[in-house]
Amino acid sequence: VSGSWSQKSQLEARKYCTVNIAASTECDGHTSLPEPVTWRLSHGASYVHVCTNETINGVECHELPDLKALGHDVPLVIDFSSHVASRPVDWSRVGLAFGGAQKNLGPAGLTLVVVRDDLLGHALPACPSAFDYKTVADHQSMYNTPPTYAIYVAGLVFQWLKRQGGMAAMEARNKAKAALLYDAIDTSQLYVNKVAPNCRSRMNVPFFLRDENLNDAFLAGARAHGLLQLKGHKSVGGMRASIYNAIPIEGVQALVDYLREFEKTQS
Ligand SMILES: Cc1ncc(COP(=O)(O)O)c(C=O)c1O
Repeated sequence: VSGSWSQKSQLEARKYCTVNIAASTECDGHTSLPEPVTWRLSHGASYVHVCTNETINGVECHELPDLKALGHDVPLVIDFSSHVASRPVDWSRVGLAFGGAQKNLGPAGLTLVVVRDDLLGHALPACPSAFDYKTVADHQSMYNTPPTYAIYVAGLVFQWLKRQGGMAAMEARNKAKAALLYDAIDTSQLYVNKVAPNCRSRMNVPFFLRDENLNDAFLAGARAHGLLQLKGHKSVGGMRASIYNAIPIEGVQALVDYLREFEKTQS
């Protein structure tokens, strides 16, 4: 459990199976990611679930765990909703990946699932047919009516991603964007990001003003500069900049310029 979304996932999973929390960062407010060798994995588990980018907490797993090397040859299931298509994925380590389209792929309403062939056909008897990935795969994702417009738009986004140079190019771009923003935060006296540097998200950057009384003035100034939706998630507070694929480096630079300008007005 590395943040809000994996916390929701484990609660949901309890409806269907026995859950063992192999590692949790609840005690540090989800600002770190323990090394996989320290995870208390249970023997005989059916799968291991990791949310590889915690959207709300800004924690990203930069290298997928190698479960086989850890002595647990079980499928790794990843929720990659909020960093899908932002970097290459080491598919040799993944059994199943799922993600909502609404961050990096297209409109809400579409969910992408990538599942290893040998994992199809193990749905619980109570699983509705339309949610059984074998049924879905056997019908080329058209067992029931798919969200056609969302799929069409995602198709355009996939073509755009290819034109950008694919996943390697997106990763390079996203690394540069994130470095620009984290550096501005780390070198300021006013802003702070609490996430450990080795697991900071390149997509979602939560940060706080050391003087929280300035939050409203900061947000009002941001809005005046055309920088919207910077208010942090209500469960965390502070600010959050989501710098998904659609945000160019110029957008991040505009935010960095504003961060510096606002800080100057306070000194
Ligand atoms: C990592 C992650 N998982 C799951 C979800 C839930 O997605 P949806 O609202 O499409 O069910 C979100 C939504 O923001 C998310 O960021």
